[in-house]
Amino acid sequence: MSADPHKTFYLETFGCQMNVHDSEKVIGTLLHEGYRQVQTVEEAGLVLYNTCSIRDKTEQKVFNRLNDYKKYQKQGKKFGVLGCVAQQEGEKIFERAPYVSLVCGSASYRNLPQMLIQLETGKLEAGKSEAPKPEARSPIRVTGLDDRETEDCFETEFTARSNPHRGYITIIEGCDKFCSYCVVPFTRGKERSRTSESVLAEARQMADLGYTEIQLLGQNVNSYKDPAGDRPGKSGDKKTFAELLAAVGEVPGIRRVRFTTSHPRDFGRDIVEAIDAVPTLCDHVHLPVQSGSDRVLNAMQRLYSREQYLERIAWMKSAKREISITSDIIVGFPGETEEDFAETLSLLEEVGYDAVFSFKYSPRPNTPSLALEDAIPDQEKARRLEILMARQREIQITRYKKYIGTISEVMVEGRNEARAQWIGRTSQNKTLNFTAPEQAAPKVGTYVPVRATVSFPNSLLGELVL
Ligand code: SAH
Ligand code: SF4
Ligand code: F3S
Repeated sequence: MSADPHKTFYLETFGCQMNVHDSEKVIGTLLHEGYRQVQTVEEAGLVLYNTCSIRDKTEQKVFNRLNDYKKYQKQGKKFGVLGCVAQQEGEKIFERAPYVSLVCGSASYRNLPQMLIQLETGKLEAGKSEAPKPEARSPIRVTGLDDRETEDCFETEFTARSNPHRGYITIIEGCDKFCSYCVVPFTRGKERSRTSESVLAEARQMADLGYTEIQLLGQNVNSYKDPAGDRPGKSGDKKTFAELLAAVGEVPGIRRVRFTTSHPRDFGRDIVEAIDAVPTLCDHVHLPVQSGSDRVLNAMQRLYSREQYLERIAWMKSAKREISITSDIIVGFPGETEEDFAETLSLLEEVGYDAVFSFKYSPRPNTPSLALEDAIPDQEKARRLEILMARQREIQITRYKKYIGTISEVMVEGRNEARAQWIGRTSQNKTLNFTAPEQAAPKVGTYVPVRATVSFPNSLLGELVL
């Protein structure tokens, strides 16, 4: 469909990779509906925010953004809130930001084309008519919040991937784990997987288009359950997650396969065996632990003990290739004592992570831990976070140093002109920037060997091996 010059949209994305990829699907869908994407709010007729509510701060960002652009409401711009804050706050968003006209959660994106028509024509579905509106209110309000019981993931043939070399594929949406601190099961709904057949078809299609790296996505990617054969229209052989990984890794043309995020409870040894057997599967696993204390893990309802977590780490450490391990940690969960925190610090040493994303506990709506008193003052949470980050930095300094002198294959991601360096990423997901003589300048998206010469706490620097 050709673009209508009057139908323009601006989309800003907050949150995790699932949101980033959802936005690619939303953009593809809008382009197909004849919209044109613009890079500023000023130019846009429709302004969309794909939002995240994982912590209070991420949620606040959305309302700050809406406030910043309130001034444009008089120009007839339409504002829409998508994603996790949309699902969590629902119609309350219309109260907090009355000029918003669209509120839509991720499980309802399949209905976006109809919703956009409603927005444009100003017509609501029967039974959804509204009382006369005061001036500051959006003249029409469209919501898509009720589809979380769907059995399907949001798939669209119009995905507008932003990078031509590496791309995401969602294999499972939602989460059934209900960790006591987490909003995701409430914002994303129940777990539902795509058939392995449709995942593989998308992987092959991407390979045909020239993609060489695929990242399989899910809140708990390894809780994947192939629905093949379960229902009419769901044909094909059932595959386990490890089998699906291997199959994607064997698609001709695909050189790297990543997957995120893995949940320790569902992390089987077969995943490590697949990494051993299939060289295209990257030697990196993100396995969030959240805490090193059994007492806290229990209160978080994480469904594993420190010992079980370390067992999975041991599987990875006995792999043929060195697997880089990264994690997420929450400090200051209600009731976390100094001893509990010390156990988290000792776990950092024991595992030897290559990166840790650490957060102060943030009480979230609907979650079971909201009922617990958030007794650890923010200052104390900040202190623990700082200690944890400093300890992890030391660990990384030591870990990154040992790569000096080694040669790794990197995917060339771009060029940093200011530093006269190429930006590279290793299979272990480490940043390995490098210099290259002008006559041997590599192409973005290609794979080249690089020798590391300098190490930093978060990255390496090296030179192209000629
Ligand atoms: N599904 C993934 C994580 C998704 S959310 C998993 O289970 O590991 C990403 C990270 O945000 C989590 O790993 C956790 O460390 C953090 N997080 C989630 N809820 C939080 C909260 N209420 N306060 C602080 N951090 C939180
Ligand atoms: Fe949230 Fe836990 Fe589900 Fe991860 S597994 S998304 S932390 S509820
Ligand atoms: Fe945020 Fe929703 Fe992802 S809450 S982390 S955008 S699933």
